[in-house]
Amino acid sequence: MSFFPRSTGALLILLFISLFSNPATCQLQSANTGFISAVISEKGLVFVKDFLVEQAIRSLTSLRLPDIEKSVKIPLIGGVHLAASNIMLDNIDVSSSTIRPSDTGIQIVASGASASLSLKWNYTYSTWFLIPVEVSDNGSAFVQVEGLEVRLTTRVDNQNGNLVLNVTQCVCHVEDIKIILDGTATWLYQGFVIAFENRIRSTMENSIMKKIRDGTGKLDSLLQALPKQIDVGDIAAFNVTFVDDPVVKNSSIEFDVDGLFVPSPKALVGNYLQKQSHSSISSVYCGDSFNMLGISVEEAVFDSASLVLLEQGLFHWIVDKVPNQSLLNTASWKFIIPQLFRKYPNDEMLLNISLPSAPVIKISQKGFVAMIFSEMIVEVLDGDDTIPVACISLGFTVSGAAEISFNKLVGRAGLNDFSLSLKWSKIGNFKMFLIQGVIRVLLNTVVMPYINIHLHKGFPIPVLHGLTLQNARIITTNSTMVLCSDVAFINSSNIT
Ligand SMILES: *[C@@H]1O[C@H](CO)[C@@H](O)[C@H](O)[C@H]1NC(C)=O
Ligand SMILES: *[C@@H]1O[C@H](CO)[C@@H](O)[C@H](O)[C@H]1NC(C)=O
Ligand SMILES: *[C@@H]1O[C@H](CO)[C@@H](O)[C@H](O)[C@H]1NC(C)=O
Ligand SMILES: *[C@@H]1O[C@H](CO)[C@@H](O)[C@H](O)[C@H]1NC(C)=O
Ligand SMILES: *[C@@H]1O[C@H](CO)[C@@H](O)[C@H](O)[C@H]1NC(C)=O
Ligand SMILES: *[C@@H]1O[C@H](CO)[C@@H](O)[C@H](O)[C@H]1NC(C)=O
Ligand SMILES: *[C@@H]1O[C@H](CO)[C@@H](O)[C@H](O)[C@H]1NC(C)=O
Ligand SMILES: *[C@@H]1O[C@H](CO)[C@@H](O)[C@H](O)[C@H]1NC(C)=O
Ligand SMILES: *[C@@H]1O[C@H](CO)[C@@H](O)[C@H](O)[C@H]1NC(C)=O
Repeated sequence: MSFFPRSTGALLILLFISLFSNPATCQLQSANTGFISAVISEKGLVFVKDFLVEQAIRSLTSLRLPDIEKSVKIPLIGGVHLAASNIMLDNIDVSSSTIRPSDTGIQIVASGASASLSLKWNYTYSTWFLIPVEVSDNGSAFVQVEGLEVRLTTRVDNQNGNLVLNVTQCVCHVEDIKIILDGTATWLYQGFVIAFENRIRSTMENSIMKKIRDGTGKLDSLLQALPKQIDVGDIAAFNVTFVDDPVVKNSSIEFDVDGLFVPSPKALVGNYLQKQSHSSISSVYCGDSFNMLGISVEEAVFDSASLVLLEQGLFHWIVDKVPNQSLLNTASWKFIIPQLFRKYPNDEMLLNISLPSAPVIKISQKGFVAMIFSEMIVEVLDGDDTIPVACISLGFTVSGAAEISFNKLVGRAGLNDFSLSLKWSKIGNFKMFLIQGVIRVLLNTVVMPYINIHLHKGFPIPVLHGLTLQNARIITTNSTMVLCSDVAFINSSNIT
C-alpha cells in the first residue's frame, strides 16, 4: 500500500479531530475575527507574571551600579572627596507581585521588596601638619533597602500582524535605605550617609528601571520575531498572523490569529470569511476550574487544512497491498462480478483512489464527523498493462475523538457508514450491493487503520521551548474545538 507521503500525517490529524465532552459552564467572550483565538486566563497571567518577575530578579542580581563620587564639607575637617565604587546589587527579595490587565494596559506591580547592596568606599582630604598631608582611607559598606516597589505598565498592540509591546509606565521607588559602614571615624558615617543616601537611592531606582526597560525591549523583539507561519510537514503552513489588537479584559487577555492553512486560493478563503460573519462572537469554554490557557479553533481551520491537502494533490493514493491480499485478485470477485473474472481471470488488481473534493469536517458537542467523498478506480494488472475497468463513487463518514498526549493532539476515528454508486464501467453494469461486503472489509482493514495510525502519531502542538502542557484537555462545542491547558516548565533552571 502506498498512501500519501509521511509528512501529511500531521495534517491529516487536523482533519479528524474532536472529542466528546460536556460543554463547560464558564466562558470567556471573545471578539474573534481570527479563526484561532488564545485566551490567557487569570491563572495563566499569574504564571506569566511570576516568570517575568523571576527573570527580572535574575537580571538585577549582581547588577553593578555606576560609581558615585562627591566632594563634601565636613565640620572640623574641611573638604573631603568621597567615592563609592563596586556598588553591587547582591540580592533582591520580592514578597508580593500582582498583574492587572485593564484598558490602559497590563500592569505588573512588585511591592514590599527588599534588597541588599555592597560597595567599596574611599575618601581623601588634605590637612596641614606643618606641611600639607594627604589623608585617605578605604573600606566596604553594606546597604539594606526596604519597601522597594516597581510598577510597570505595558501595552500590546497589533502592528501589521506583529505584536508590539510598548512601556507606558515604569516606576521604581525605594522607601527606606540603611547604610552600614565598616569605617571607624564617626564623621565618615554621617558624611557618607548625607552625601550618598539619596544618590544611592536614585542610582538604584534608575538602574532598575533601565534594566526593566531593557527586558521589555527584549520581550518586544521576541514578540516581533514570532513567526507568521508555522510549517506543518513540508507542504502547508498555518497562518499565525495576529489579527486585531489583543483583547484585554479584567482578568484575561485574548489573542486572535488568522489560523487558516496556506496556501489556499483567495476565492475559497473568501468563503470562510463569510462563515465568520455569522459566528462573530464565539466563546472559549474552559470550565469552572480555569486553565491557564484556552485555545479555540474554528471549523474553518479544519476546512482550510482539508483544502490545502486537496490542492497539493495529496488526497490521492494507490492501494496495491491489503492485509488479505486475495481481495486484490479477480478470483475473489468471481461470484460478485463474474464478468470481471471471465475477462481477466486470476489477475492482480489495484485500487486507484482519489478525492474529487476536500473532506468536510463538522465539529459538534459530540465530537467531529468527517464526510469524505472519493472515487475508486478498479484497475486490473494484465501482464504489463494496467487496465481501468470500473469507477465507483464511495462516500463515507467517520467520527471520533481527540485528546492531548505529551504535547500532541492525538485522535481515533471509527467508520460510521458509507454509500456506493457506479460511475462508469467497462465490464458492464453490476449491482453495488454485491460489492458492499468487500468495500466494508477494505474500509475497515485498510482505510480506517491508516487514518488511525496517523491520528495516533498525533499533531505536535507548538509550545515554547522548555515548556510543557499540563492538565490539557479538548472540549468541542458547536463548530469549535477548544484546547484547555495549563503550562509548566520542564525544568525551570534551564530557562533563560
Ligand atoms: C576612590 O574610588 C574611586 C572610584 O573607584 C577612584 O577613582 C579613586 O581613585 C579612589 N581613591 C583612592 C584614594 O583610592
Ligand atoms: C586601602 O587602604 C589600605 C590601608 O587601609 C591601603 O593599604 C590600600 O592601598 C588602600 N587601597 C586603595 C585602593 O586605596
Ligand atoms: C511602540 O513601539 C514601537 C516599536 O517597538 C514603535 O514603533 C511605536 O511607535 C511605539 N508606539 C507608541 C505608541 O509608543
Ligand atoms: C471589570 O471591572 C470593572 C471595574 O473593576 C467592573 O465594573 C466590570 O463589571 C468588570 N467586568 C467584568 C467582565 O468582570
Ligand atoms: C495570513 O493572514 C493575514 C491576516 O488574516 C492575511 O492578511 C494574510 O494575507 C495571510 N497570509 C497568507 C499567506 O494567506
Ligand atoms: C451551531 O451554530 C450555528 C451558527 O453558529 C447555528 O446556525 C446552529 O443552529 C448551531 N447548532 C446547534 C446544534 O446549536
Ligand atoms: C480473504 O478474502 C477471501 C475472499 O473474500 C476470503 O475467502 C478469505 O477467507 C479471506 N481471508 C481472511 C484471512 O480473512
Ligand atoms: C489513477 O487514476 C488517475 C486518473 O484518475 C490516472 O491519471 C492515474 O494514472 C492512475 N494511476 C495509476 C497508478 O493507475
Ligand atoms: C534541571 O537542569 C539542570 C541543569 O541542566 C540539572 O542540573 C537539574 O538536575 C535538572 N533538574 C531536573 C528536575 O530535571
